[in-house]
Amino acid sequence: MNTTDKVLLLLQQQINQPISGETLARQLGVSRTAIWKAIQKLREQGYLISSQTNQGYRLSSKTDMLDKKEIKQRLIRGFKDWQIETYQTIDSTNRRAKEFAEQNPGQSAIIIADEQTAGRGRLGRKFYSPNKTGLYISICLSPKDLSYESISLITAQTAVSTSRAIETISNESVKIKWVNDLYMRDKKVCGILSEAITDIESNQVQALIIGIGINLSVPDEGFPEELTEIATTVFAPNEMNHCTRNDLAVAVLNQWLLAFNELPDTGFIQEYRKRSNILNKPVRVIQGKEAFNAFAYDIDNRGRLLVKASTGRLHHLSYGEVSI
Ligand code: BTN
Repeated sequence: MNTTDKVLLLLQQQINQPISGETLARQLGVSRTAIWKAIQKLREQGYLISSQTNQGYRLSSKTDMLDKKEIKQRLIRGFKDWQIETYQTIDSTNRRAKEFAEQNPGQSAIIIADEQTAGRGRLGRKFYSPNKTGLYISICLSPKDLSYESISLITAQTAVSTSRAIETISNESVKIKWVNDLYMRDKKVCGILSEAITDIESNQVQALIIGIGINLSVPDEGFPEELTEIATTVFAPNEMNHCTRNDLAVAVLNQWLLAFNELPDTGFIQEYRKRSNILNKPVRVIQGKEAFNAFAYDIDNRGRLLVKASTGRLHHLSYGEVSI
């Protein structure tokens, strides 16, 4: 650990309370100039550290920096051998997760970013991923983690576990719009994109990437016009964030692993049904170029949406989109 990391650790142990440069220097056995340089570095990285004469340096709990070490420390034991990467900015965490899987066969990983410049959404869409107001995570699962029966269920399981995590942080209820959009206050707050890397010859899954994008607070510049009517944030506009993105990342990942470990048990589907905001409602189904009106009447244990089309025909949908 270098001096900057050590200074950060001491400040974090005494969050919101001042600690003098002299004390820091003594505890770490370095000069006060070295402490001052470390503080400058941390400020450049985005840590909110105030300094007051005669009192010293104080790290504000309002600092909302993705912190790999903090996240790692707070993750449950099942993540012990996982690789974790954090980025201030990246094109897409799913893209990086795929690259990681190719470079490190057999290794599971978590990729988290403050910002994505080319965030990917479902059906070839873009996912708006502004700096620091959202959480962008990709979970990279290697084949050793995957049983054949689990693969089709993982996305649905992720929708349920991420809903649980957001609820513990926000105290507000989260709904799921099939397949895997999460809703709060009738607007989308989170999107999930699963991508499999398969070996063409053997048709075996080499890795499964699960990307989770959560809007935490409204960006200073607001949402782009096309999103204002349909997107929302975990924290309501004008509400202070009462947790950091590290808190949310830890909650999302820990809930995810707990639920993942239950697979291929499908008990969670009952919760998925309860959270669904389209069940027992007329819906419009869009599948590629086809679209039809139907009634959504159930979600089966494989996560498929069961609908009765206006023609009377029953459909078991495993992909596509619905609108209410
Ligand atoms: C959707 O709503 O269409 C799915 C959006 C998924 C966005 C997440 S953000 C983290 C990960 N990296 C990406 O490029 N996309 C996913």
